[in-house]
Amino acid sequence: MKHLISMREVSKDEIIKILQLARKIENREITPNLSNKVMALLFFEPSTRTRFSFETAMKRLNGEVLTLTGAEGTSIEKGESLKDTVKMMERYADIIVIRHRLEGAARFVSEVVNIPVINAGDGANQHPTQTLLDLYSIEKTQGRLDNLKIAMVGDLRYGRTVHSLSYALMHFNPMLFFVSPKTLSMPDNIKIDLKDKGINFEERERIEDVINKVDILYMTRIQRERFPDPTEYELVKNIYVLTKEMLKDAKDNLKVLHPLPRVNEIEESVDSTKFAYYFEQAENGIFVRQAIISMLLGEV
Ligand code: CP
Repeated sequence: MKHLISMREVSKDEIIKILQLARKIENREITPNLSNKVMALLFFEPSTRTRFSFETAMKRLNGEVLTLTGAEGTSIEKGESLKDTVKMMERYADIIVIRHRLEGAARFVSEVVNIPVINAGDGANQHPTQTLLDLYSIEKTQGRLDNLKIAMVGDLRYGRTVHSLSYALMHFNPMLFFVSPKTLSMPDNIKIDLKDKGINFEERERIEDVINKVDILYMTRIQRERFPDPTEYELVKNIYVLTKEMLKDAKDNLKVLHPLPRVNEIEESVDSTKFAYYFEQAENGIFVRQAIISMLLGEV
């Protein structure tokens, strides 16, 4: 694996290897050392978890970090292209992590530089490092990845995390439930790929139809910033709100995941239940990102 751009291109063996590495890093069985390496974080869209957990991951690996948050203060403001910007960064850094609003931006960068590139989210397309930490969280809480019942809830149209996660889960024979309003359903191309792989899935509009059946309830935010028409967002913005009461007959092993940030789709009353796992999930991102960076830089 030279780059990490899309979960479509990551094999089952590679997934398992990354998760094993992350576990060893978390348990301090291995301590990769990147003291001579520099990571460039190029974030052209807002981020809290992804950017800071990448920074923490690289610092725990003893590496250095260069961070760009938006074009402000860089020569992009003077009209420099993304291509020229990254051609410069490859001379200052050993690995690039990029988040961009344009789908395909990370792949474009991977094609014009000669150092590893990690996609930290490209528009509504993919967010592969989120998926790897989601898988790590699922395995940690369920003891396995195979044969689980998993519901994805909310904005399945614009939510890049559920797109990446769907591709990754194709390796693990899940039963998937896609819960969304019709206007925000899982894109057809992903559903076609799931069918081609023989993965069972059902589409529903109500959380209540699935909540007591599943092992993982993967909540997502309605992605306001991706709606071309704000009135369309207003119609669906409060469509799903998970409450503590809704979990009263949930399976004992159920875990509620969310890539975060949440807006109002999980009530704070859920946070103190045994089902909530979204803050631990975000913390797991450090170990998984340490593993990914180490692997791409050939240190493990
Ligand atoms: N999950 C995630 O990508 O969060 P941020 O947007 O805060 O990085």
